[in-house]
Order: sequence, then C-alpha cells, then structure tokens
Amino acid sequence: MKAESVFIDGSWRKSSNGQTLDMVAPSTGEKIGVIARGTAEDINAAVAAARKAFEGVWGQMPAVERGRLLSKLGQAILDHEDELTDLEALDTGKPLKLARGDIKAAARYFEYYGGAADKLHGETIPFLSGYQVMILREPRGVTGHIIPWNYPAQMFGRALGAALAGGNATVMKPAEEACLSVIRLTELAADVGFPEGAINIVPGVGEEAGAALSAHPDLDLISFTGSPEVGTIIQKTAADNHVPCVLELGGKSPQIVFPDADQEKAIESIVGALVQNTGQTCSAGTRVLIERSIYDDFMNALTKRFKQLQAGPHDLDLNCGPVISKAQQERVLGFLERAEKDGIEVAAQGKIHEKAPEGGYYVPPTLYRVVPRDHELAKEEVFGPVLSAIPFDDEADAIRLANSTDYGLIAGIWTNSGARQMRLAKGVRVGQVYINGYGAGGGIELPFGGFKKSGHGREKGFEALKEFTVTKTVVINHG
Ligand code: NAI
Ligand code: MG
Repeated sequence: MKAESVFIDGSWRKSSNGQTLDMVAPSTGEKIGVIARGTAEDINAAVAAARKAFEGVWGQMPAVERGRLLSKLGQAILDHEDELTDLEALDTGKPLKLARGDIKAAARYFEYYGGAADKLHGETIPFLSGYQVMILREPRGVTGHIIPWNYPAQMFGRALGAALAGGNATVMKPAEEACLSVIRLTELAADVGFPEGAINIVPGVGEEAGAALSAHPDLDLISFTGSPEVGTIIQKTAADNHVPCVLELGGKSPQIVFPDADQEKAIESIVGALVQNTGQTCSAGTRVLIERSIYDDFMNALTKRFKQLQAGPHDLDLNCGPVISKAQQERVLGFLERAEKDGIEVAAQGKIHEKAPEGGYYVPPTLYRVVPRDHELAKEEVFGPVLSAIPFDDEADAIRLANSTDYGLIAGIWTNSGARQMRLAKGVRVGQVYINGYGAGGGIELPFGGFKKSGHGREKGFEALKEFTVTKTVVINHG
C-alpha cells in the first residue's frame, strides 16, 4: 500500500518536502505505519490536476460512464471487504463488526451514486410565448473535501461518491489520526480506471494541508465534516474566495422517551446508538430525555443494560473500542472529571476489558443520572461513550429541551401515539428524525445535515447530488 504517498494527477508520490506522519493504533498506542505529511504545494498541484481533469477527460465523460466507474469501485470495495475491514478496525480502533458495516456502507455509496449519475437531469419551464426555458444541472467543477477520522471509509464514499457522480473533479484531505482505508480505497479507484486527476488525495495535518485546501482560490465548493471550531475557520477562509461550503459539524442529539413507548426496544436502541463507534459519531444520541412519570423505572432498566457494556481492543469486537487518540481520551476524561467535581451522579459505568492493552486509549462507557439542563453534559458534544439523562414534564417541555442546545442534527422519538409522533417530528429543529428507532445503517439514501451549529447543506441521498451540482438557466427566444 502507498500509505506514505500523496495521490495527485493519477500518480503516487512523496509529499513535496518528503515528510511523513506516524500512524498509531488506538487499541494499543503502537505505531503501525506512516502517511505523507502533505503540504500547501501538494494541495496546489492536486487542485491544478483536478482542474485539468474537469476540463479534460473526466469532464467530457458521459454520465453513464462515470456511473459505471463508480459502480465498479463499489464492487471492488466488496471484493476487498475483509482486508478493508481489518485495516479500518486497526487504524480507528473500532470493533470489527462496526468496521465491516462501514466498509459495506462505503461500497453502498458508490453503488447508489453509480446508479444515480445518469439520472440527474434538468427541467424545462413554461414561459412566455415564443420562448423555451431549460434548467441545466451542471457540476460545480473542482470540489474540496476535508473529512474526519471517525468513519474514514464511509466519509470517502459519502463525499466522493456524490461529488464524482455529479461530474466534479475532487481533492480530498483525510484526517491525520486515521486515513489508511482512504489510501487503500484510492488505490482501488485507480485500479478500476478513474482517469487522472478525477480523484486527488493529500493526507496531512489540518492546519497545513487542510488550511491550504480551504484557502485555495480555484475551488468551486468545499465540504467539511468535523468540529464547529474548524468549521468556522473553513467557512471564513472560503468566504475570502467566495467558495460555497457544505458543513457537517456534529450534534448533541436527543432520544425522547414517552410512557407509551416500547421500553425494552427503546433501551436496546438508545444504548446501541450511543456506544456505536465509542460515542464518536456526529449523530450519536447523547441525551436521553425521559418523561418524569416513568423516569425512575426507565432509568433502572437503562442502568442495568449499561452496566453490561465493555470497551476493549478492536479485535475483541466488544460494544466499544478505544477512542481515537490520547488527545481525545483526555478530552473525554476531562468531561468525566468535571462532572464528578460538579457532583453529577454516575448512574452506571461499563467496564474496560481486562485484555485491553495498557497503551490503548480507553474510557469507560458512562451514564449520568439527572444532568442539570445548563450543565456542559447537557449541551456540549463529548465525542465519547457518555450518555446524559434528563427528565421532562410534558410534550411541550420535551420539545423545548430537545431544542435547547446550539446543535440540531438528529432526534429519536419513542412513543406509540401517531399524533404525538407527528407533533414531535415537526417540533424538533434537526435534519433527521427517527420514530421508534434510531439511525439506519449508514442511511446512504437519506438526506442528512444540520440546523444551527450542526452545520448547513445536505449530504447523502439525492440531496447531496443537488448540493454538489448547480443549475444554469437557458432562455431561447425562438420566435
Ligand atoms: P477537527 O475539526 O480538528 O478535524 C476534522 C478535520 O479537519 C481533519 O481532517 C483535520 O485535519 C481538519 N482540520 C483541522 N484543522 C483545520 C484547519 N485549520 N483547516 C482545515 N482543516 C482542518 O476535529 P478533531 O480535532 O479531530 O476533533 C475535535 C472534536 O471535533 C471532537 O471531539 C468532536 O467533538 C468534533 N468532531 C466531530 C466530527 C463529526 O463527525 N461531526 C468528526 C470529528 C470531530
Ligand atoms: Mg482539531
């Protein structure tokens, strides 16, 4: 594998200054390899290669052929499922079962967008007599993509699947903490025959290669998934060049439980959606809001389930792995320490498995009982396996509480009353609402994105194709 290289204009090469970054396995803390430390010069070369591809072979390729290449990549991913699963689990520390699901989802993105490439078309508009109006749907041009470390393979599929199907040439800066699967997927893309410059990958540090990409004047759009702080920087930087942004910046998503819900089903789903990827999921349901009349009963059952949770190395395939890095471990443990100082009661804590290596970045899954509404555990994204329980009085209070953070990404609603389901779905200010369930195995077909600090623009599904393309109105006066 060409892990120590950048991929520009169809060829693998060292970064312009030859520097590399060490990659560490979160399960053990041990070095597993190196990646290239891409530079601003590499980003310039990558954007130039993408521009050339967009104006050349890639830009001229019929949609049906673009779609075929995407579908072939989807199949190639499935053909390498075992290898990619092991690589993703080693690199991110995520349990093998989850890594396998991620690889299947990555394949599914290319399958979905492969099939969509030639079904993305414009419209005509009835206008004045003697006129014909056409709305063409065109690629943006060159798109930049900065992705995080929590789901590298899925993010590769989500960003590039839609951007390439829309006819754009792309430059991606994956995360320095984990991107080995991205590099391997890029090799597979080259093998199936994507032309030079359609896909360019420059791994490296956020403040270096990432900053150079978001500041590049020759981009037509930039998409970013990560922290709100960096989202702000990227948006401001891109504004200098009038480059539009799609931003996905995480959440503090509520799971809202009413007395008439199937409690057993709710608990299984709430716990599953919290511990998935060890809480390092933008859409993790990290607040459980419970109607006061059932609070103690529901918490007792949730507590019992939570105590069974275990964190350990990826190959033990437990509920949780380690978190991604020493820095992330310290960040999550910081939340736990402050909660203790603030006297917030721990309702239940899972275990760190006895076989978890000393050097790995483990944190115990933790459930808090009655978190005050203004505490950071009720407001801030922890990005670790930490669940905050909060009681509410009635439906209106539930909606107010659900909407009381700066975020608005997704929400889960647990009730069997149809009318209440609909009122809640309309009342919560989030991009996706799940009723009596939560999450959907990647949800490739489902438009996804935030309100408020969770970002703007929509990815996944057909919405992403609209986001990564643009309309052009053509008016013909034929007399
Ligand atoms: P981050 O926002 O710093 O990193 C995400 C990506 O942005 C990485 O590829 C990074 O290299 C790049 N980046 C960093 N600084 C940049 C800059 N100045 N210009 C351009 N690109 C830059 O997130 P980080 O530090 O890894 O995690 C911090 C917190 O962010 C997490 O605890 C979590 O709360 C949140 N986060 C949310 C994610 C989501 O899925 N919405 C994913 C990752 C982090
Ligand atoms: Mg950062």
